Amino acid sequence: MKLHQQVAAEVEKAFSATGLAEHPIVLQPAKNRDFGDYQINGVMGAAKKNRQNPRELAQKVAEALQENHLIATAEVAGPGFINLRLRPEKLVQYIESALQDDHLGITRSSEPQTIVIDYSSPNLAKEMHVGHLRSSIIGDSLNRVLSFLGHKVIAQNHVGDWGTQFGMLVAYLTEQQQNGRADLELADLEQFYRNAKVRFDEDENFANTAREYVVKLQSGDSSVLTLWQQFVQTSLQHAQAVYQKLGLKLLPSDVTGESFYNDQLQPTVNELLAKGIAVDSDGTKVVFLEEFKNQDNEPAPFIIQKKDGGFLYASTDLACLRYRINTLHANRLLYVVDARQSLHFNELFTVARKAGWLPENVHAEHVPFGTMMGKDGKPFKTRSGDTVKLMDLLNEAVTRASALVASKNPDLSPAEIAHIGQVVGIGAVKYADLSKNRTSDYIFDWDSMLSFEGNTAPYLQYAYTRVQSVFRKAGTWDKNTSINLNEPLEQQLAVELLRFEDVLDSVADSTYPHYLAAYLYQIATLFSRFYEACPILKADDATRNSRLQLTSLTGKTLQQGLILLGIDTLETM
Ligand code: ARG
Repeated sequence: MKLHQQVAAEVEKAFSATGLAEHPIVLQPAKNRDFGDYQINGVMGAAKKNRQNPRELAQKVAEALQENHLIATAEVAGPGFINLRLRPEKLVQYIESALQDDHLGITRSSEPQTIVIDYSSPNLAKEMHVGHLRSSIIGDSLNRVLSFLGHKVIAQNHVGDWGTQFGMLVAYLTEQQQNGRADLELADLEQFYRNAKVRFDEDENFANTAREYVVKLQSGDSSVLTLWQQFVQTSLQHAQAVYQKLGLKLLPSDVTGESFYNDQLQPTVNELLAKGIAVDSDGTKVVFLEEFKNQDNEPAPFIIQKKDGGFLYASTDLACLRYRINTLHANRLLYVVDARQSLHFNELFTVARKAGWLPENVHAEHVPFGTMMGKDGKPFKTRSGDTVKLMDLLNEAVTRASALVASKNPDLSPAEIAHIGQVVGIGAVKYADLSKNRTSDYIFDWDSMLSFEGNTAPYLQYAYTRVQSVFRKAGTWDKNTSINLNEPLEQQLAVELLRFEDVLDSVADSTYPHYLAAYLYQIATLFSRFYEACPILKADDATRNSRLQLTSLTGKTLQQGLILLGIDTLETM
């Protein structure tokens, strides 16, 4: 149910009837729900442009909304707002059809797109650390929302599995195999990288071997490739363990790493040269971009091949973009990558448009996000200043949540505590991220994310268990009784529940998951007010069954909404 769209259609008709067809209606959910369900703010702007009295004009629009099939009342307020109250009988009809549908009345797109989402995408020459958390969580949520709306989503994990570091890593792996210590070394990847780096810096022979391996790797030497594969596989298994712990939808089959594009790099560069888009500047192949000038008014250089023939991050991304459009047939490309790479993506898309690889009807979007900060306001680190391993962070989340659950509820069995601790701990980490506007940096703070009050995962998960407990106590009830929205809080909850699709649409368009988080928080808060003001189980039969239906849609909406954020729910906690 696109409630907003339906109301907007009626308001637009009223605007036309009043001679305001060209003016934006500016419709939004009412700021204060005691005065209405929606408010129209557009009349003031229209009045100003037409030099009319805003209140008089608003009165005319309100009159045009009389006897409307969807809108019960339209009242002018303040300098020329109009407060709208929707017809309860209409809302009831919509609620009933949402309840009967396992997709909660949410329509699947009539024009499904093929959307490629690039997310997580760690460099495999390092163990996954907190820097990869945001991309993984945000990308996964967008994947879920867009899939739910009926689009074909192709997740792409663009892992960094190619480049000079891999020569060093493979050289070190060979050395350790000769010592019979390879398995042992690979068991701790972080240490492995560090040891390899030490060897590289201290031993000239080792460094030379490493450089030779880079060349062999690039020329496709099979024995070096086998070693490289072994290393990449181990590294990917480690990443997959993190994904599993996080409950991400990412699968090993979503990995299409940088190495995949290797044989496309030279042709890509050649094509840009042939088209006259790239030039040879002293041996380096560059696209000069007039669109991106530096302080001295010189065009920005987008380097696609180095003097020595080596390729770069940019070359791979060009080949990759072509693959996503030509082979995966994407209509929309999302890159969930740190905000610090904004310029890279701007330039990438510009070059691709120039080359004709990115047609007008394909949208390419960088979905940037800020840095995860510690409580001290500096990028999140361990006490000793090291980067925090993602697995350690997630384990700590579960441990902390389990301790919290055990202290609140000492009667639970250890197995129950472990399960609830997992769901709450991981949910808290994800929600802390997804509930904030992704473009800002955010402070990672255990205490606030694990709090049962405020806009947190535990609060929402707890709200869901409250709903479930109502049904446990209710036993069997009649799901076919008609719904009544006699109390203001019942109507408010109903209106809010029917906004779900509008909210999901806005997440899909804007790629801001925090709109969904804010919505779920609003639902949980409204439900709790409703629950306190309107007795459910103690009411007379008709009222009880009506309220149980509202409660039921609340539970389904909370659960579905949390699933779309990648967060699990519990029956009790
Ligand atoms: N591996 C890169 C990094 O860790 C992110 C890759 C993002 N995706 C892309 N197509 N460039 O910074």
